[in-house]
Amino acid sequence: MTRKYNFKAIVAATTNHGIGNKNALPWRLSKDMEFFKNTTISKTQKPNVVIMGKKTFDSIPKKFRPLADRINIVLTRQNIKDESVIYCNSVNQVFQELEKIDYQDVFVIGGKMIYELFYDYIDTFYLTRIFTEFECDTFLELPEYFKLVEKSELQKQGQVEYEFQVLKKHLL
Ligand SMILES: NC(=O)c1ccc[n+]([C@@H]2O[C@H](COP(=O)([O-])OP(=O)(O)OC[C@H]3O[C@@H](n4cnc5c(N)ncnc54)[C@H](OP(=O)(O)O)[C@@H]3O)[C@@H](O)[C@H]2O)c1
Repeated sequence: MTRKYNFKAIVAATTNHGIGNKNALPWRLSKDMEFFKNTTISKTQKPNVVIMGKKTFDSIPKKFRPLADRINIVLTRQNIKDESVIYCNSVNQVFQELEKIDYQDVFVIGGKMIYELFYDYIDTFYLTRIFTEFECDTFLELPEYFKLVEKSELQKQGQVEYEFQVLKKHLL
């Protein structure tokens, strides 16, 4: 396992580990969207990189993609050309592309396939834990070596209760 990269990841999940339904987020939480934006946009001169799978990219409304003020890397096995996005066909190609860029931080932003591909390189998960259950068809159960180090007060929007958590990788 390499420790060269200290990627961060950001995800919202229910207590049953649900993260998506019909290629969309099952909930609408404006404060969580705001948190996602504030967390993933760099506060320095150097931009952050966001890495996502093609399905997650397609799930973002057209007017909001690529995600503004961030370098967008999208994993796909298709051969797509688009100047505004860096398309990569493999994890190795992602690392090759990162060598060419001057960036601050790298955020893995999903979906399930892409979080799982990058576990070895992620040291921090920003997890919005949603306590209200929603119908989901995509689930992500984080490995136990990601341990809770911080959590916010309970948040509430309408009927939905959630909290912002920070998990750090603890390997023996
Ligand atoms: N709750 C959250 O925070 C959150 C965050 C993100 C996404 N989501 C949800 O998660 C769901 C999508 O997750 P998902 O796991 O189905 O899809 P995904 O991870 O977003 O994308 C999967 C796609 O990535 C590409 N891919 C996967 N492995 C690859 C590899 N090794 N090399 C090259 N390309 C690769 C393939 O694209 P091609 O088919 O084009 O080859 C594959 O179909 C949606 O419901 C979305 O709303 C939730």
